[in-house]
Amino acid sequence: MQFSDVESDLTEILLTEEQIHDTIAGLAARIDADYAGKTPLLVGVLRGAVMVMADLARAITIPIEMDWMAVSSYGSSTQSSGVVRILKDLDTDLHGRDVLIVEDIIDSGLTLSWLLQNLRGRGAASVEICALLRKPEAAKVQVDVKYPGVDIPNAFVVGFGLDYAEKYRNLRGIAVLAPHVYS
Ligand code: IMP
Repeated sequence: MQFSDVESDLTEILLTEEQIHDTIAGLAARIDADYAGKTPLLVGVLRGAVMVMADLARAITIPIEMDWMAVSSYGSSTQSSGVVRILKDLDTDLHGRDVLIVEDIIDSGLTLSWLLQNLRGRGAASVEICALLRKPEAAKVQVDVKYPGVDIPNAFVVGFGLDYAEKYRNLRGIAVLAPHVYS
């Protein structure tokens, strides 16, 4: 899906497909260098991180493994509740593993700070975070993101895996959702 397919639902284009591609290539190069000689386990947070994971995993040139977690976040509203619940847990034993959490966006940071603590408690050798987008103005807790992509304004955005009520995930770029869609 292109921006033009849902033009009236969007107010501002934040990242084009090409900009996302370049950002992910830069993140992958850093991950390649930092994890050389290791086989990190990339943990994708469903469902928003599916696109980031797919592109990041293919841009990385060292061996990796992938696993997935699903945690509750927004439902159909646009405000973080801070309540985190595991809907689907990992299948992989984390003992001694180098874990890299792959996220689409960090908003309040509540989900990730909880996830970080949870995974660090499972005996991993290291746990780091890669997040394509970050909303610094929305941060309620400070989360140390080793591989941050792009900082964006505090607005509700959709595309490249990010949804509103399960829609717009297949939009190729990332854009601000028009308030009339959710108000
Ligand atoms: P946090 O706990 O507030 O950091 O929110 C984390 C989760 O909320 C993300 O993984 C997304 O699934 C969702 N989220 C936060 N901001 C947005 C947004 O602007 N658009 C779509 N989903 C969002």
